[in-house]
Amino acid sequence: MKKITATVMGFGDRGQIYARYAKMRPDLFEIVGVVDPNPVKLEKAKREYNLKTENCYSDPAEFYRKSRQCDAVINATMDRLHYETTPPLLEKGYHVLLEKPVASDPRELLDLERAAKENRRVLMVCHVLRYAPFYRRIKELLAKGAIGRIKHIYACENVAVYHMLSAYVRGKWSAENACGSGMLMAKCCHDLDLLVWLNAGAKPVTVASVGVRGEFTAKNKPAGAGTRCLSDCAAEDSCPYSARKLYIKNDVYPFLIWNDLPGRDWDGVELPLREKLLKTVSPHGECAFADKDLVDSQSTLVTFDNGSTATLDMLGGVSRPGRNMHIVGSTGEIEGFLESNRFAVRRYDADSTGYKEETREITEDVSGAHSGGDLRLVEDFVSMLSDGPRSVSCTDISDSVIGHLLAIAAEKSRKENRMVSFADFFL
Ligand SMILES: NC(=O)c1ccc[n+]([C@@H]2O[C@H](COP(=O)([O-])OP(=O)(O)OC[C@H]3O[C@@H](n4cnc5c(N)ncnc54)[C@H](O)[C@@H]3O)[C@@H](O)[C@H]2O)c1
Repeated sequence: MKKITATVMGFGDRGQIYARYAKMRPDLFEIVGVVDPNPVKLEKAKREYNLKTENCYSDPAEFYRKSRQCDAVINATMDRLHYETTPPLLEKGYHVLLEKPVASDPRELLDLERAAKENRRVLMVCHVLRYAPFYRRIKELLAKGAIGRIKHIYACENVAVYHMLSAYVRGKWSAENACGSGMLMAKCCHDLDLLVWLNAGAKPVTVASVGVRGEFTAKNKPAGAGTRCLSDCAAEDSCPYSARKLYIKNDVYPFLIWNDLPGRDWDGVELPLREKLLKTVSPHGECAFADKDLVDSQSTLVTFDNGSTATLDMLGGVSRPGRNMHIVGSTGEIEGFLESNRFAVRRYDADSTGYKEETREITEDVSGAHSGGDLRLVEDFVSMLSDGPRSVSCTDISDSVIGHLLAIAAEKSRKENRMVSFADFFL
């Protein structure tokens, strides 16, 4: 296969993860450039991938001005930059691997789909869960008709307390005006994509969603709570959401919490500095009981044009993180918990009115984030660009648009307190 060359736009957490495929398969993939306004990230990319200085851009405009430099761009910038940064890349002739969410406005989504088609470029969205062996194996079974016609898909994303707090209560995605979308798009656009992908070819018809911010609100503040855990809170010691327990004692998600320190990277941040930041300017030191606009629990119902239904629950602030899936077909069902690395296939036995069950174990390597999905996604992107085989997980921008529109439709339903018609979202 032809070797594919790429520039990483946004060498943050996600950009660095995807770039690693070049280290695993230098014969197939090479990182030849980086675009990032943060000098620390720029220098890190330059060092790790031995990049030429002229291929390291602190200003994206400088990169856009140049003629096409490589085959592809990994666009791993933050959510709000995806819409403005991607069309110039497609127009320059780059294939783009784009982080989710693609956009949070239906018009922007459809614009990006059009831009990819008009420029005949691949615009692949980082739906990493499709590449987790657990979901890929389920998809293969469904395609073979293992449980007949799909009647219902139930999915649940259980967002752990520490994850909820670090990303959606105090973190980068803690308010719609900060990240550009609500909780469903920010956290569950993969899950909505799975509902559509697994129910191959079916189009959503109606969408209804309800959600609340029930836990992380000012009315639940414990007696004696202040504004910051480490500075003025008398309840810190007994509070399960204490920033001290999370970021001093347990060093949760350091790449998220200490990400934007001027002049340095997130690792090895010393304790006195952590305490000082949590006491003063870090949003991660603020009281978790605050009234913001993201929900911490949301349930979404979808009907499809093949007569099936789906439900997705997002439960924010649970003890055990993970994803449940239960797919009910006309002749059987598949049920599993992603993180357990196994699922059950059951078939109804009409003779006994009982069922027969087999357990399928996931034996593939599932190390890394998203149960082994991250680097398999890059592998597929590279294979597609070099005319190699595509996996069953391969996603086209037009597929991804459906899952994203589902999130937008669900949010409209939740906010307007009514069921909405999916067709209204195709402008
Ligand atoms: N696929 C998934 O499962 C998954 C998981 C987590 C995050 N994400 C998404 O990945 C994206 C990146 O998240 P992250 O946590 O890596 O963020 P990050 O903040 O760690 O990285 C973003 C990088 O972009 C750089 N940047 C800022 N402006 C830029 C510009 N104009 N041009 C180029 N670079 C610019 C920043 O300096 C930073 O290094 C987000 O959209 C996020 O929602 C996806």
